[in-house]
Amino acid sequence: MKIIVFILVLVVTMASCKHDPLVFEGPVPLPEGSAEISFQDEILPLLLSNCAMSGCHDALTREEGIQLTDYSNVLKIVKANNPGDSELYEVITESDQDKRMPPPPRNPLNQAQIEMVRNWINEGARNTFRPEGNCDTVTVSYASTVRLVLDQYCVGCHNNSLSEGGLNLTIFSQIQQKQTQIYQRISLSRQDPSYMPKGGLLSDCKTNQLKAWIHQGAQQN
Ligand code: HEC
Repeated sequence: MKIIVFILVLVVTMASCKHDPLVFEGPVPLPEGSAEISFQDEILPLLLSNCAMSGCHDALTREEGIQLTDYSNVLKIVKANNPGDSELYEVITESDQDKRMPPPPRNPLNQAQIEMVRNWINEGARNTFRPEGNCDTVTVSYASTVRLVLDQYCVGCHNNSLSEGGLNLTIFSQIQQKQTQIYQRISLSRQDPSYMPKGGLLSDCKTNQLKAWIHQGAQQN
């Protein structure tokens, strides 16, 4: 009798497994024109360039067991809709220098970046991406295209307090002076150890926009 009950339970359990709803785990595309923060395009690049570098929260080092290289790992320190209860938000807004992330001598995230993280958590901390649609590689300018890409993907390692490779990408004259090196580094195969952004990934669209701006003379426009 026990055996029969056991088998029955087993059969029922297995049958119910089959009816589990299909869960789509990949990133969800945001509708065109959506103002929702995109995890893949806005949050992840910020974490990759400010937190996931070698020696900090990359897959190899995992300081304090925390890895900030992909959605499922980031979610471990985030409580959706509740920034106040999210470790990620707490450490970036911490006023105590010893506890703040990224720690000195790195700069803290700026106000706009902190707000972006808070908004993303408040919007449900979803794994989203922004489909690129038509990529405009003709109308590109320093202020409206290049500056945004550099701030999001590069400045975490190339700023005034931390200038990896001797390069500060917050200063226009340095960008102009190093335009050939920038062009070469973003054009490398993404598996190449010299590829920039180190540890991250520029989409084809953003890569082509940076290249187009350099082709057009790398002007402060
Ligand atoms: C996670 C840290 C990190 C990020 C993010 C990063 N870099 Fe770098 N970068 C480095 C390091 C470390 C070096 C020095 C080692 C080397 O040359 O590969 C470097 C070197 C460079 C150099 C060579 C400088 C020279 O004088 O030749 C260029 C150009 C460069 N980075 C451009 C970029 C650009 C553009 C981005 C964003 C698209 C970026 N980097 C993002 C860490 C980073």
